[in-house]
Amino acid sequence: MAGSGSKVLVFSADHGGIDLKNKLVAHAGSLGHTVVDVTRTQGESVDYPDEVGAAVEYFLQRQADFLVLVCGSGVGVSIAANRHHKIRAVLADNPYTAALARAHNHANCLCLGQRLVGEDMACAVLDSFIANQPDLSERHKRRVHKLEEPCRT
Ligand code: RB5
Repeated sequence: MAGSGSKVLVFSADHGGIDLKNKLVAHAGSLGHTVVDVTRTQGESVDYPDEVGAAVEYFLQRQADFLVLVCGSGVGVSIAANRHHKIRAVLADNPYTAALARAHNHANCLCLGQRLVGEDMACAVLDSFIANQPDLSERHKRRVHKLEEPCRT
């Protein structure tokens, strides 16, 4: 039975992130969160912009709490995710980055690199991302709001 602090998490990965994604899915599920794994590849090579696009679409439709994306480095999925309206993605390899991204940037998408972060650290990063709340101070709300404005270039 999920606790009152339980969240809905959507996970996806490209072929370079499947193993870590599986570990994070199991970890989040063991903590009582609702986990939806929309990963499409079974290991065959795919293009991360396509996989991220499909995952973002599901995440927004489902109105889930968090999107978690894994590729080899975490870089490709984070670049791809931040191209999407309403997505604020952070590539994190430590819990403090994840905490700051939640508090100051109101991040709703966590990106991780399977080749760059160990499984235990990745679980700690995810725990921190889930546990931290957006800081709703005026200055942070103002800055996050500006992220939704069209770019000048
Ligand atoms: C796939 O080899 C790899 O390029 C991809 O998983 C990711 O690291 C890209 O940024």
